[in-house]
Amino acid sequence: MPGLLLGDVFPDFEADTTIGKIRFHDFLGSSWGILFSHPRDFTPVCTTELACAAKISDEFKKRGVKMIALSVDSVEDHRNWSKDVMAFNSEAGTALPFPIIADDKRALAVQLGMLDPDEIDKDGIPLTARCVFVIGPDKKLKLSILYPATTGRNFDELLRVIDSLQLTAQKKVATPVDWKVHTLTLYSHQSAAWVILGIPRRMQSSLYRQTNPCPI
Ligand code: BEZ
Repeated sequence: MPGLLLGDVFPDFEADTTIGKIRFHDFLGSSWGILFSHPRDFTPVCTTELACAAKISDEFKKRGVKMIALSVDSVEDHRNWSKDVMAFNSEAGTALPFPIIADDKRALAVQLGMLDPDEIDKDGIPLTARCVFVIGPDKKLKLSILYPATTGRNFDELLRVIDSLQLTAQKKVATPVDWKVHTLTLYSHQSAAWVILGIPRRMQSSLYRQTNPCPI
């Protein structure tokens, strides 16, 4: 059953977090946002993911994207785990550069369709899967991905898709396989942005026979 669909207004939930109670739309303000969920605090895969997200948080900031994580444990656990994550990054004493939502009642996990039925805690309750939502300044869902608890994500890929989403928000273009901003690769078309939106179908096949410079 589809949950939240691309283009839907993202729910304006209230939640307890490591920076206090938030209302999600107020937290986002006029920024882009990324919400990424984790099955549990203090677990190995989740810790590597959060550490990576913290390490490259300046890249999200540069793109005007507010980050927020979510896990099913309490705010107190999240605060202690945040310290562990920064120590794992050899940055003990530095604050985690984004808040973590405490979804201890699984309310958001249920509302947003994030439960992983294959990963059960000691009480028989499913853990949260590794979900990612990218939300635009209009508060609409621009991208969602859902990995099982057992597969860690690639945060460089999340930056890459945000570059594509933000480019598409500005210009009528779509980006090809493995596209990255300004990166020349063996296949020169990978650095191209193809203008395909709104052009007649019969002209589209000519577009993959040529390269187009990235418009930003
Ligand atoms: C982990 O983060 O290591 C993990 C959490 C839940 C299930 C499997 C792995």
